[in-house]
Amino acid sequence: MEYQIQRGTYDAYDEEALNLKKLEEIFSSIASTYGYNYIKTPTYEQTELFTRSVGESSDIVNKEMFTFLDKGGRNISLRPELTAGVMRAIVTNKLYARDLPLKNFYCGNVFRYERPQQGRYREFLQFGVECVGINNYFHDVETISLGYKSLKFVGFSHLILKINTLGDESSRENYKIALRDYFKDKISCMCPDCQRRFETNVLRILDCKVEEDQKIIKDAPKINSYLSQEAKDYFQNVLDLLDEQSIEYVIDDTLVRGLDYYSQVVFEYHYIASDGTNLGAIGAGGHYDNLLSDVGGPKLSSVGFAFGLERINALLKIIEGEKYEKPNIDLYIIHLGEETKQYSFLLMQELREAFFKVDMCLEEKSIKSQLKLAIRKNAKFALIIGSEEMQKNCFNLKNLNTQEQIEISYENLIDKLDEVIGLGDYEDEK
Ligand code: HAM
Repeated sequence: MEYQIQRGTYDAYDEEALNLKKLEEIFSSIASTYGYNYIKTPTYEQTELFTRSVGESSDIVNKEMFTFLDKGGRNISLRPELTAGVMRAIVTNKLYARDLPLKNFYCGNVFRYERPQQGRYREFLQFGVECVGINNYFHDVETISLGYKSLKFVGFSHLILKINTLGDESSRENYKIALRDYFKDKISCMCPDCQRRFETNVLRILDCKVEEDQKIIKDAPKINSYLSQEAKDYFQNVLDLLDEQSIEYVIDDTLVRGLDYYSQVVFEYHYIASDGTNLGAIGAGGHYDNLLSDVGGPKLSSVGFAFGLERINALLKIIEGEKYEKPNIDLYIIHLGEETKQYSFLLMQELREAFFKVDMCLEEKSIKSQLKLAIRKNAKFALIIGSEEMQKNCFNLKNLNTQEQIEISYENLIDKLDEVIGLGDYEDEK
């Protein structure tokens, strides 16, 4: 029997797997420079955590959750995002009693039963951050900047940052009344989702992608006219501080986001590749005031975002083309003859302990075949060891890029490799 991969899932290997891992590492280290610490939460939680937090009116909870009863009869869902789980962890472990704000970053797989298409999976990876505990527009700007600068750093030079405000609670309630009033005699001609949204959360209608509905949505009242002075000032402060850092943005007054927990500032990062590829938002987030208290903690304001790593990876592949990094190793050891095999093997192990990425062929193969393997492994250097070299403890180090070859003694090998390759990342970090 041949097993099929599940719809909406994918296998990543070679360059793709390497680059996904690299993105996680880069985003994590940039987040650390902003004072964030790593947090890991479970892949599944009680279903109610998501219905309460992400919201019953959202498509995510309504249509897209992977929900099941476990063997103990508990109602469980695979996480459709990580923010709710992080809030639950903060409450469970009383982390809110620490100095605020709590700043955490995470990376993990997320599950949504969506219709698969380019850049849209049913299991995908999110990297995200949550800054919890302080109501201050500086934190919103710090978070938006972190996302913006991280995306610029990995190669998105023409990033589009869309931003909007949903106002405070009273602004939003007034706006919802106005929206209900506007849609009430149009809703019967709109899609079934919008009809449901009209009943559960009228704001969601603004998010509808159906073309016919969008024509109606275009003339709907705008949030701007319903914002309290406080909410207007808050938003203006955010925009001014972004301007101060020359972070460009586009105000998009239809941006409401697909999750129910937001208030005040919401934002999305977009990128359109030169060949026209547009995968939708590559990252998104916003400010939220009630999520922690909704899951049983104190009422503390927070802000966060999450990136979709597959979308980022796919776009970078288009942007970077040939530069897109292939898996590689530092050194391939080529051994000539049976008697050099064990010697080469032990040397390889020694070099690995010094954090060089080293490999060799453990079968008997000609020098030509071993060189081919070295090239296929994308090795930077080849170290050639014949019986004479073994006796003299002196080898030929060949740069596989330039084809230059130098002689090097065993004693000088690690220093020389360090000079031409540099020690592995791990050793650098120690
Ligand atoms: P979200 O907008 O639902 O926000 O997802 C964040 C990112 O995940 C999106 O911008 C997109 O890049 C990626 N994404 C979403 N759905 C898919 C999919 N089906 N396949 C591939 N990638 C996808 C959140 O999840 C919030 N928790 C973000 C946040 C954190 N807000 C505050 N803190």
